[in-house]
Amino acid sequence: MNNRYGLIYEGKAKKVFSHNDVDKVIIEFKDDATAFNALKKAKFEGKGKLNCLISARIFEHLVKNNIPNHFIELKNENTMIAKKIKVIPLEIVLRNTAYGSLCKQTTIKPGTTLSKPLIDFYLKNDSLNDPLITKDRIELMNIISSKDLEIIVDLTLKINGILKSFFRNIQLQLVDFKLEFGYDLKNSILLGDEISPDNCRLWDLNQKDDTIVSLDKDRFRNDLGGLIDAYSEINQRINDFI
Ligand code: TMP
Ligand code: ASP
Repeated sequence: MNNRYGLIYEGKAKKVFSHNDVDKVIIEFKDDATAFNALKKAKFEGKGKLNCLISARIFEHLVKNNIPNHFIELKNENTMIAKKIKVIPLEIVLRNTAYGSLCKQTTIKPGTTLSKPLIDFYLKNDSLNDPLITKDRIELMNIISSKDLEIIVDLTLKINGILKSFFRNIQLQLVDFKLEFGYDLKNSILLGDEISPDNCRLWDLNQKDDTIVSLDKDRFRNDLGGLIDAYSEINQRINDFI
């Protein structure tokens, strides 16, 4: 990225730079992958580009479905221009099917279809290891008002409906996903971050039996290999569909 742009923030998978317009930022998607709060680290050439392109297409689809989000346009294949937001330090996870930490922390068996979507809140705080947090604790910490939390829950459920059918159309099961929200300069709530195989679990529906084939970051988390092939497959299916 050109030095003209000042680095505002560097996360595990993205860098955020300033833009000439004060209400915009430039987001560069990195090839780095981390898991388990960066205990595990690797680099996958081309991951940044794939996540940027996949996220851009999904954000466009969400805008068409009236979900406000920060995406403005692609700058190049691994960089997007987005609205500047003040990120709310919460990770909102929605689960349709039990997997991952839900199965490690409860007696629910992996692969169980949940009778209704489960929403889990996590505090976005690396030094505390992003702990699971309750609505009451969110209120206690004054992170956001309960009214705004309700807006976020409502948006997350709507996004789930839209994304579930979007992915079903391309033969993918949306198991779970993580969202982040923020406030724009007018104090409206916008969806931020990314929507990609880094923060969604996506299972291939093109299977004759019940075998789980993950086309997402579980390929790295669980040492399955083939991460770039999986992400490329998703990008290809989206492009063939749109
Ligand atoms: P979990 O089962 O590990 O709690 O993950 C649930 C979903 O949230 C899964 O799609 C991966 C995503 N996720 C992130 O995007 N970032 C994170 O830091 C974690 C822990 C999960
Ligand atoms: N993004 C998280 C991390 O590094 C974890 C994950 O996605 O599993 O650490």
